[in-house]
Amino acid sequence: APAGLADRYGRRATDMRLSLTDKCNLRCTYCMPADGLEWLAKQAVMSAAEIVRIVKVGVEQLGVRELRLTGGEPLVRHDLVDIIAALRANHPDLPISMTTNGVGLARKAAVLKDAGLTRINVSLDSLHEETFTKLTRRPFLGQVLAGVDAAWAAGLGPVKLNAVLMRGINDAESPQLLAWALERGYELRFIEQMPLDADHGWTRRNMITAAEIRALLSRDYVLTPDPRARDGAPAERFEVRRRREGPADGAGSPLLGTVGIIASVTEPFCADCRRTRITAEGKIMSCLFSREEFDLLGLLRTGAGDDELAQRWQDAMWIKPKAHGMDHVGLDAPDFVQPDRSMSAIGG
Ligand code: GTP
Ligand code: 5AD
Ligand code: SF4
Repeated sequence: APAGLADRYGRRATDMRLSLTDKCNLRCTYCMPADGLEWLAKQAVMSAAEIVRIVKVGVEQLGVRELRLTGGEPLVRHDLVDIIAALRANHPDLPISMTTNGVGLARKAAVLKDAGLTRINVSLDSLHEETFTKLTRRPFLGQVLAGVDAAWAAGLGPVKLNAVLMRGINDAESPQLLAWALERGYELRFIEQMPLDADHGWTRRNMITAAEIRALLSRDYVLTPDPRARDGAPAERFEVRRRREGPADGAGSPLLGTVGIIASVTEPFCADCRRTRITAEGKIMSCLFSREEFDLLGLLRTGAGDDELAQRWQDAMWIKPKAHGMDHVGLDAPDFVQPDRSMSAIGG
């Protein structure tokens, strides 16, 4: 299938995001409920062999050029290291990255690197024990910080950090979080909260927008657009310099690093999207917000051949929605309906 994963609007998906599990050891308020969420049955989740087969079809037949492993929390999968090693054996040159909450990462970073993992992103919303615990509903800040440093030390860098800002909870901490990341050479990205929380508590009014994020940072820092090409990435990157009193504000002061802003809601990047997603249940989602799922794992389990799998994947991607519609402001946001699944069940 030489056409790859094309859609009706001329986009081509080359970045694959694959969820290894719906389970997680944190309960971030913007993602999961405090309790009561039922995990998928073990049998419903892709096995290691099934994951390896699906990735092979994506890479060898459909033009997938990058793989990101997500969750839930990928580290809770007991066979994670074996999965990465098997993927690496099949695809020596494929960039394989992982997005993790960092809990338990300190113990695993070196083995993950040895197994063939390329790079890691860690979610880190606060450096304060109390705020962290309020947001994630678990007291694991120390583990996460140790995990970030271990990932860096193991050669899994450049390490990127993801912070979702929540009004009245961690928004005021944003300049401090940035200072911490800049000192250590980690690339921090601030993320607009998307309506993907299990509690359906998202409101437009409560969301910290990209414009607010830039304003929050502008008291201490001068941000200028990063000259590097964005290349379909969700984050818009800025060079960061310290704000100084006087006329030559920012200019001439040394470059401290870069910061990213992921403005999925107010400055959507759907037109440049290059993603295809596979949920832990082996369903194809053409978009985080697609209403329809295509069962790839079910087809695989009937004994389907690679061509048949590739065909279903192409069919699913062809009808990828043009845009999510979250940016339609007002009472009549006609195109937007919050998905039933929460972020943890789709795979960040
Ligand atoms: P790299 O920049 O390559 O390291 O990866 P990434 O930023 O794409 O991956 P990561 O998993 O760290 O995702 C960062 C954030 O991007 C997530 O927290 C989401 O908020 C957002 N995001 C991920 N996928 C999508 C998507 O398909 N659509 C939208 N609108 N946002 C997404
Ligand atoms: N909106 C935006 N980002 C989210 N994440 C989880 N839930 C949401 C949400 N509702 C982010 C996490 C993690 C990544 C996988 O997705 O912070 O870094
Ligand atoms: Fe777990 Fe990630 Fe959801 Fe937090 S955002 S509860 S770490 S899956």
